[in-house]
Amino acid sequence: MRVIIVDSYEQMGVEAANIVAGQIYLKPASVLGLATGSTPVSMYQRLAAVHRTVGLDFSEVTTFNLDEYIGMGADNPQSYHYFMWENFFKHINIKPENVYIPNGMAEDMEAEGERYEKLIAGKGGIDLQVLGIGQNAHIGFNEPDVKFAATTHKVELDEETIQANSRFFGSIDEVPRYAISMGIKTIMMAEHVVLLASGKNKARAVYKAVCGDVTPEAPASILQLHRDVAVIVDKEAAALLPETIRGVHITRKG
Ligand code: PGA
Repeated sequence: MRVIIVDSYEQMGVEAANIVAGQIYLKPASVLGLATGSTPVSMYQRLAAVHRTVGLDFSEVTTFNLDEYIGMGADNPQSYHYFMWENFFKHINIKPENVYIPNGMAEDMEAEGERYEKLIAGKGGIDLQVLGIGQNAHIGFNEPDVKFAATTHKVELDEETIQANSRFFGSIDEVPRYAISMGIKTIMMAEHVVLLASGKNKARAVYKAVCGDVTPEAPASILQLHRDVAVIVDKEAAALLPETIRGVHITRKG
């Protein structure tokens, strides 16, 4: 794991966007794994700006999102489909047919999981997976559990996750209880991984991911076993990391 500590949420987005842009410059037909939530928004904004200003080209890029709420169609403003189009896809030149997000309206979630895995495999696998992290150290919607769930599957959300995500809804009762999410194996098969975290409420989860025991009770800890992970965190999210593993501290002026 490379731990990169930056000064701010915006800078985290810039560093992450640099990695994603580098991936696309090196391989224009890259397959990206993408995340929703507040964390990656600054990265999406930066990538959209790079597209606008210097023409970073997404026309050959394929994307697979980590997860979707069950029971939410693409036109529901609370859905992750909607989030991705609003926050990213409509600002770049990606082809709609190259965007994949699990179908939260599928009748048979097991079949949907299998379909999604086949789609990923059919595209040659994910080159670069972007991840946020939950306060409970989940990645995707892989909640703390007694075992690592392997592939794309239906999940019951943790109370902590429901509480955290209620900020996007009118009330906590409106937060879906179930989602469909890539599994740990799906994530671990990605060639490169970038894990992002910002804010002091993520400090414990970041500590567990980077320094804790590898255990399904802290799902992000499995990333310690991945061969290429960049952890990009702001100072608040890095607060509990010991000095010895603080890799790089990047401060950019201006
Ligand atoms: P957040 O969510 O970016 O909105 O904090 C991250 C996550 O739950 O994985």
